[in-house]
Amino acid sequence: MDRAAYTARKSIPDIIASADAGEVGLRKALGPFSITAIGIGAIIGAGIFVLTGTAAAQYAGPALVLSFILGGIACAFVGLCYAELAAMIPVSGSAYTYTYATMGELMAWIIGWDLILEYAMGAATVAVGWSGYVTSLLASFGLYLPPRLTEATGSIVELADGSRVAALFNLPAALIVLVLTGLLIRGTQESTRLNNIMVAVKLAIVVIFILVGAAHVTPANWHPFLPENTGEFGHYGWSGVLRGAGVVFFAFIGFDAISTAAQEAKSPQRDLPIGIIASLTICTLLYVMVAGVLTGLVPYPTLNVADPIARGTDAIGLPWLSGLIKIGAIAGLTTVILVLLYGQSRIFLTISRDGLLPPVFSHLHPRRHTPWISQIMVGGTVALIAAVLPIGILGEMVSIGTLFAFVLVCSAVLYLRRREPGMARPFRAPGAPVVPVLGIAFSLLLMVGLPFDTWLRLIIWMAMGCGVYFLYGRHHSRLRHGSGAR
Ligand code: ALA
Repeated sequence: MDRAAYTARKSIPDIIASADAGEVGLRKALGPFSITAIGIGAIIGAGIFVLTGTAAAQYAGPALVLSFILGGIACAFVGLCYAELAAMIPVSGSAYTYTYATMGELMAWIIGWDLILEYAMGAATVAVGWSGYVTSLLASFGLYLPPRLTEATGSIVELADGSRVAALFNLPAALIVLVLTGLLIRGTQESTRLNNIMVAVKLAIVVIFILVGAAHVTPANWHPFLPENTGEFGHYGWSGVLRGAGVVFFAFIGFDAISTAAQEAKSPQRDLPIGIIASLTICTLLYVMVAGVLTGLVPYPTLNVADPIARGTDAIGLPWLSGLIKIGAIAGLTTVILVLLYGQSRIFLTISRDGLLPPVFSHLHPRRHTPWISQIMVGGTVALIAAVLPIGILGEMVSIGTLFAFVLVCSAVLYLRRREPGMARPFRAPGAPVVPVLGIAFSLLLMVGLPFDTWLRLIIWMAMGCGVYFLYGRHHSRLRHGSGAR
């Protein structure tokens, strides 16, 4: 095997220069506020609005607060590493680009392929959560959507007459993906404006929930804070806290989406670290407070529902608040889907410019400056996946794929510190090598906690990716057939 070619690296100055020369350039429209909003837009979503309840009810109880602290600490280590790389290599493409500069082309392709799990599958997962909240909101107005059109293909649903049938597909989930795809094609500026508004709405809802909820907490619900383990690993007790952290890890995914906006940032070296760290800090604080308030409002065993935050609010006895929460959740989930769809098309754009994917993925609309054909292909595929697959399988795939990417990003920081010690680092992850090593350790820990089936799916997905590389990428790679390898 042609080993040297597979491990050929791009030089970092070359990466930045070619992105700047940037064929037909993307618009540099984003400031620190919009970038932080992109982060928060991607982070607060199905994790806090949907999975919090399951995790509290089944795994951690009120100690879910500790699960969120654990998840936040793990993401903080990784976030600092992302910030260092994003400031050093301010180019769209996220972990893919960093890996290309460090571990070479084959690993870069593998991570790029892996990121599809985080972005495209992530968008599909949240779209399914969105469908659940919309169905619930409409039902509170007496509008009932046909159950066969609101669940994954083959799921068993109960009809009004009590009969049980297999669902056809999840129509609302597919529709929201298609609508947002249309919006992204229209242009980044317009989409970020909508994103900023939606982020403000969901932040307001979360803060209102915390403030109003805190005044109605029944402290007895917090006892026992750490319910005794049932004898089975992961069911309450400390192992429950760990499993809870694995489940709510999904709630933190998204801060890295900021790095995909690098080329559209006005001042990436300064604004990307600000955006990553600010959005992660804000979200962790909010999550910990939401978990505390929610488990204080109602006994944790009752939280295993599709809309736990609204359920918690019902306990306060303010119906308007519950409706408001549902609307806020829908806004929140919408922005997550938007940012993930956006991120996916930008990652494909970068990979395509390197020749590892066909040129159609980097074709920009002449007027709107968006990768519109790619966006349509991404949107179509995500809509299809969201229509047919259940949220459980999707969510686990997203988690394992993202954690794998995190391991590689932290490794890239370690590697670059040794290989390019003198290179300008506008932002340095403090405490290296401890911080990257802890980032790797925490990510692996959470990966190990995921079920075997999920690992198997990851391996199959990766094998498919290798097939695509050997059939297409290696024959079209610009690095292998041009200059720039080191
Ligand atoms: N963090 C995102 C969410 O919770 C993916 O929906």
